[in-house]
Amino acid sequence: MSAGANPGFARGRRLRSTPALRRLTAQTRLSPADLVLPVFVKEGISEPQPITSMPGVVQHTQDSLRKAAHEAAEAGISGLILFGIPADKDPLGTQADAADGVVNEALRRLRDDLGDELVLMADLCLCEYTDHGHCGVVTPAGVVDNDPTLDRYAAVALAQAQAGAHVIAPSGMMDGQVAAIRRALDGGGFTELPVLAYAAKYASCFYGPFREAAEGAPQFGDRSTYQMDPPNADEALREVEQDLAEGADAVMVKPALAYLDIIARVADEVRVPVSAYQVSGEYAMVEAAAANGWVDRDRAILETLTAIRRAGASSVLTYWAVEAARLLRR
Ligand code: PBG
Repeated sequence: MSAGANPGFARGRRLRSTPALRRLTAQTRLSPADLVLPVFVKEGISEPQPITSMPGVVQHTQDSLRKAAHEAAEAGISGLILFGIPADKDPLGTQADAADGVVNEALRRLRDDLGDELVLMADLCLCEYTDHGHCGVVTPAGVVDNDPTLDRYAAVALAQAQAGAHVIAPSGMMDGQVAAIRRALDGGGFTELPVLAYAAKYASCFYGPFREAAEGAPQFGDRSTYQMDPPNADEALREVEQDLAEGADAVMVKPALAYLDIIARVADEVRVPVSAYQVSGEYAMVEAAAANGWVDRDRAILETLTAIRRAGASSVLTYWAVEAARLLRR
């Protein structure tokens, strides 16, 4: 029997007929408050530097970052996550915890300037600061050494806390990193400072453009001995469980679009906020296709962000944060 012949038959189109009806019945909402903007600040430059593989994204000076932060607050997004590029790199990444290191300086200035208006998240990793480009301390044999790295992360967490970060976000994927950081923060009197763990972070090709932006490409080897293997899903739940047991307050899945199933499973499993990181390569793909006229850029931005929210992420880190916030307000 055709649906039309039976007036009692459910008809999917009834609730789609006008924009207002579609808005009323939308199951997933996306709002500026869901969004966090990743920013890069570089030491020793006098003008912002464009990033070729991420059109529209720059490496900031301290001054241009300040302006961008005000625009972000104005647009109504919830926060920034900061990445720094120091002038000098060394094997231990000492600029990451130097009090006057580029990110710590930026945190201090932004906190002075904006107070608590935006959530200032500090990405905690060493790859932007080490001369070899790995996320931790490396043995003479070239292996990233887990436990000595934890001591470095503890020191960096304290420096970032002292500089004014509202959230510490470890992204290095070392075992035990959340516990080491929690202990350091508590020991330093920062018992109230939350840790957002990059819990399920995959060894992904989609970080390619970021490595240009943060100048942190590994000089040898790759990150597949510490970041997760893309075929694995159950392992993401183990990583999340472990990070929560170590004291993580919120968890992240990264990248986002190729890992929507992981976001959904993690969101189902935990009772803490779940963030997802729409990474540099996801940004670059849409930008490149849009520049060719192959996809509608604004729609692609909102559709991908909505998909990530629909999968279960409560917030999204995205290079389009400010722009998306403006699109949502139109
Ligand atoms: C640092 C870090 C990376 C990203 C965020 N934090 C790079 C990496 O792991 O190689 C990637 C973010 C992006 O691609 O936008 N470990």
